[in-house]
Amino acid sequence: MDMDKLVSLCKRRGFLFQSSEIYGGLNGFWDYGPLGVELKRNVKEAWWRDMVSGHDDLATPAGAPEPYEMVGLDCTIIMHPQVWKCSGHYDLFHDFMVDCRESKKRYRHDQVRGRWVEYNGRKIFVATQSGGEEGLAETEAKALKFFGLRAKNAVQLEWKSPLEPLTSVEEFSQTLGPDAKELGTLTPPREFNLMFKTYVGALSGEEGAAFLRPETAQGIFVNFKNVCDSSRVRIPFGIAQSGKSFRNEITPRNFTFRSREFEQMEIEFFCRPDSSPEWYKYWRDRRYQWYLDLGLSRERLLLRDHHKDELSHYSVGTADIEYAFPFLPPGEFGELEGIAHRGDFDLRSHMEGKLVREGDKLVVELGADGKPRHRGSGKDLSYFDDERKERYVPHVIEPSAGADRATLAFLCEAYREDNVPDENGKPRERVYLKLHPRIAPLKAAVFPLVNKDGMPEIAEKIYRDLKRHFNVFYDAKGSVGRRYARQDEAGTPYCITVDGQTLQDGTVTLRDRDTLEQTRVKVDGCTEEIRERLR
Ligand code: GAP
Repeated sequence: MDMDKLVSLCKRRGFLFQSSEIYGGLNGFWDYGPLGVELKRNVKEAWWRDMVSGHDDLATPAGAPEPYEMVGLDCTIIMHPQVWKCSGHYDLFHDFMVDCRESKKRYRHDQVRGRWVEYNGRKIFVATQSGGEEGLAETEAKALKFFGLRAKNAVQLEWKSPLEPLTSVEEFSQTLGPDAKELGTLTPPREFNLMFKTYVGALSGEEGAAFLRPETAQGIFVNFKNVCDSSRVRIPFGIAQSGKSFRNEITPRNFTFRSREFEQMEIEFFCRPDSSPEWYKYWRDRRYQWYLDLGLSRERLLLRDHHKDELSHYSVGTADIEYAFPFLPPGEFGELEGIAHRGDFDLRSHMEGKLVREGDKLVVELGADGKPRHRGSGKDLSYFDDERKERYVPHVIEPSAGADRATLAFLCEAYREDNVPDENGKPRERVYLKLHPRIAPLKAAVFPLVNKDGMPEIAEKIYRDLKRHFNVFYDAKGSVGRRYARQDEAGTPYCITVDGQTLQDGTVTLRDRDTLEQTRVKVDGCTEEIRERLR
């Protein structure tokens, strides 16, 4: 699928707009239009319903070791600055970047790659931002240009390495930057803090400094005791939260995939340390299935366990759910959600202070003065297990998803083109979004075939009846073919048309977006029929 076509459809039909577009836009920020906001809300609501409000506390779901409870939270975006110091974000939440003095572009150090090539005794590293075949073609074209060779002389280039990350190159004097014509224009990598800083209250000095949250998870950890004390939850249980997070990404790109303001849907699941590996497996599989159930195809969805050397120092296991986004080279996948076994790292950090690994153990990191580098709250966040009569710090499994990335994946998966006959039987190219009805912005559209003969009155009544239950749309403008086309592009699963026959037998046509099948349904049965089909 051509990503440009999806981007253009999203703008044309009001799914997504660039933020502040009339002022030239702001890189890394996106606005959801009238259809987009419904789609994203449906994604978030499906997550909340399936994970929290619809969860049966009494049953043992398939694959779970035992029944468990789920509750929710809605925490503030700005929290006490100590939260980020103890969580490790303050010290660690940075990326390294390199700037190009020639092109004035900025790149994430770990996202640039390239190959070593030699010609006439001169060896250089040709860098690119592309991977796979595209990366190979790009580096070859750049090397030919640099050495002043024609394409037919490509065989004279001696390639000394496959595509490898820029992080493997020690210094850049012999490196040709991704957008540079000369060697050695890249600066050494520099640290870049990804947290947005702001000031609380009238003071603009460091005393008032605070951060916009880079994840929703910490709000859950710091409220763990409040939730335990105020509700009757017993371990094992999960706390869910969805909301905005902010990261000052160095290279926001790929539409909404890497944005600076985005929404997360996170669960912190608290369990006994000895059963945490089983819970980790349960959540990993449960979350993978969730995307499949909402329409992502198994061929494009990957559940990838991290290698041991990819794991955070506190993690027993982490898996990513990844999607083959069309903007990535073939064979590459982008992260939709991470499921991490976090042990007792987070609760202990907020009790004792920022932790670091020492051998097999997590210990409080000390500053030069021998005191904790970042002091914890000192509050007891351990849990007394009534059943086992023992006290412990619960272990945590964290399924952490991105609402914008999930929405983007559903849009990419849904985009379809086909050829269908129009009202006169002539083949017409059609673009449609095959969205799962649960997340489709509109569930149905209602049309009077013509704006006379009593048809609008019947159509309006059907519209109003449906509107009481579902988000539906009334459209009386243009040819019925154009109206169908508009709804196909919006991903509306059903269209109901009031026509001449309606006046005779009280039935309407119900058209299915995917099969194009048209069936006749009683006017009074429309709501029930749509309800049944959406089930
Ligand atoms: N609490 C764990 C955590 O935040 P993460 O892998 O950094 O983990 C979780 O983020 C999810 O949030 C990602 O899988 C992704 O879906 C989403 N996400 C992270 N950074 C993002 C960004 N810059 N733009 C859009 N979504 C992002």
